[in-house]
Amino acid sequence: MVTHISINQKIKAFNKTIKISGDKSLSIRWALMAAQAIGKSRAYNILNSDDVNNALISLKKLGVKVSKKKKFCEINGKGLNTFVFKNNTVINAGNSGTFARLIIGSLANSKKNVIIKGDRSLSNRDFERIIKPLNLFGVNIKSRNKKLPIKLKGSNFLRPINYFEKKGSAQVKSCIMLAALNTNGETVLKCKKSRDHSENLFKYLKLPIKIFKYKNFDIIKIKGKRQFNAFDYEIPGDISSASFFIALTVLSKNSKILLRNININQSRTGILDILKKMRVKIKLKNKIIYKGESKADIHVSSTKYLKAVNCSSNMNSRLIDELLIIFLICAKAKGVSHFKNLGELRHKESDRLKIAVNFLKMIGVKIKVKSNDLKIYGNPDLDLKESYVVKNFNKDHRVFMMSCIAALTLGGCWKIKNKDSINSSFPKFITTLKKIGAKVK
Ligand code: S3P
Repeated sequence: MVTHISINQKIKAFNKTIKISGDKSLSIRWALMAAQAIGKSRAYNILNSDDVNNALISLKKLGVKVSKKKKFCEINGKGLNTFVFKNNTVINAGNSGTFARLIIGSLANSKKNVIIKGDRSLSNRDFERIIKPLNLFGVNIKSRNKKLPIKLKGSNFLRPINYFEKKGSAQVKSCIMLAALNTNGETVLKCKKSRDHSENLFKYLKLPIKIFKYKNFDIIKIKGKRQFNAFDYEIPGDISSASFFIALTVLSKNSKILLRNININQSRTGILDILKKMRVKIKLKNKIIYKGESKADIHVSSTKYLKAVNCSSNMNSRLIDELLIIFLICAKAKGVSHFKNLGELRHKESDRLKIAVNFLKMIGVKIKVKSNDLKIYGNPDLDLKESYVVKNFNKDHRVFMMSCIAALTLGGCWKIKNKDSINSSFPKFITTLKKIGAKVK
């Protein structure tokens, strides 16, 4: 079976409107919250990808009624703490760190043992970051090396915690928020800034949450054990998936793209701010607020003169999933771009910092790395002529997609392995590329 793709020519100038699949973070959060709400919830435009489908299959294993129709996904929830399952049920989170960490928080007071496992990539990721706070709640967790598989037994006697989340991880924050939701009393969470979809949903569902925002951190207070009602949700397009098409346009000549109905929650739009600083023409139109989230149509045009950027590390959490593609854009910018404190990038589906460094070196871009800081010496004339093979990237979906954009905009003959990796977040990626004229074999 062919598991790689070949790209041997740049994409020709285009002017297109495309649809981007539903947001992964919101799809998973909707499913988890709907499973704990009372009544029937529906999600429209839920992302149809392995990460989300594994979440839905897992919820079914926990006794939740889930049905996928052509136009919507329906979950019939029975309320908080109503998962029904056999002792030692195995939940497979596949490639999804988000689902794994959030379901573990939601199971904080399960009466039976649950085993959570994942694929090779997820089994290499750090779970100490959630084991520590969950232990403080009183959850019993057994694991080898603080990694998956994890055996969890919840407790009926959870105690609320006072915790400082220092990594700026929305997955850790949300795991704690979900455990707090299942705990009597008030949990107080101080956390470094990260995407705030969970807070927005809690507020929309009128759960007892208080949020105090400071410059570098937030304080979140949650009172648990409050039931809430089912809710419908229309999932907007995912800005992280959109970012590959934004980059494709920026790096192509005389091209334009319109991406409709994309989530532009400000905790996710660091890429738009960085690109504006680099002189990319981006316009947001038809902005609306929907159930605590913002969405808009994004218009982007190709850019002749890209200016290097100094990315403050305060921005990192607002563009964490877009860093790979931003690095590629910086490779074509005039001047030296600086990125600092990129440690969290090493904890993704692969060590993305290491992979980015090797990738940029492979295409002849000068870089300097010092611990977790990166300098990219951009070259506006970068034009590739040789053959390149991209492999051994831990099947990281975002590495695969970034490589395709490099191949379609910089030239050369490319073989990119593990095309199935896109199934984690954006199965329609290659079909969408072809729709705008990319020659991908
Ligand atoms: C996510 C949070 C981010 C991000 C991931 C999705 C989420 O991870 O990289 O793709 O939905 O909460 P961290 O919060 O661990 O940085």
